Amino acid sequence: MSPLIAPSILAADFANLQSEVEMLNTSQADFIHVDIMDGVFVPNISFGIPVTQAIKKHAKKPLDVHLMIVEPDRYLEAFRDAGADIISVHYEACPHLHRSLQAIKALGAKAGVAINPHTPIEHLKEVIQDIGLVCMMSVNPGFGGQKFIENTYDKISRLKDLILSKGATTKIEIDGGVNIQNAPKLVTAGADVLVAGSFVFNSPDPVATISELKSIRMV
Ligand code: DX5
Ligand code: ZN
Repeated sequence: MSPLIAPSILAADFANLQSEVEMLNTSQADFIHVDIMDGVFVPNISFGIPVTQAIKKHAKKPLDVHLMIVEPDRYLEAFRDAGADIISVHYEACPHLHRSLQAIKALGAKAGVAINPHTPIEHLKEVIQDIGLVCMMSVNPGFGGQKFIENTYDKISRLKDLILSKGATTKIEIDGGVNIQNAPKLVTAGADVLVAGSFVFNSPDPVATISELKSIRMV
């Protein structure tokens, strides 16, 4: 099975957002990954609700919204209204994670949980059946273009075991530093969704680069 590909719009040319979204529409991308950073949970600010709405206006692919913000419960409805199809909150930002997941599902979106590189997957054990997608960070969140953290492969295998042992249908998404070198190994370890920002948008032909990632099979 080929992985699902979620190019991160964070690496796009923001002055030409419409054409960047239209480029993704013509590609084999499965989702558009939308990185929301608040300057508090992470040391960077990206963009927020109006820009998400603007992306949605032109997008023909589902929006995969990654909330790198404190108190995400306050904004779930606003991002759902702005067009989010998948909403991921950070484990580290949610003292009542089960409640946050139920709130996302009640809004009709797929519920995701993002985990930082230092967060053990065991912390998801009691709620794994409630999680549609785990966004496993393979860099420290906050910036595109960072170096991939090698411990991720092992973490994916252990998360896959946990999902299977609980009979859950949770998808594993890998976010940060993904490229054509590490992608086959990530898929082999059990990744279902690959986020790629700079690798896609800094390439000379992003549509072809997305196809290249899409053609990866387990090795
Ligand atoms: C990092 C973001 C990532 C980032 C990926 O905080 O969550 O989604 O945009 O960008 P690359 O692929 O350049 O690491
Ligand atoms: Zn992200």
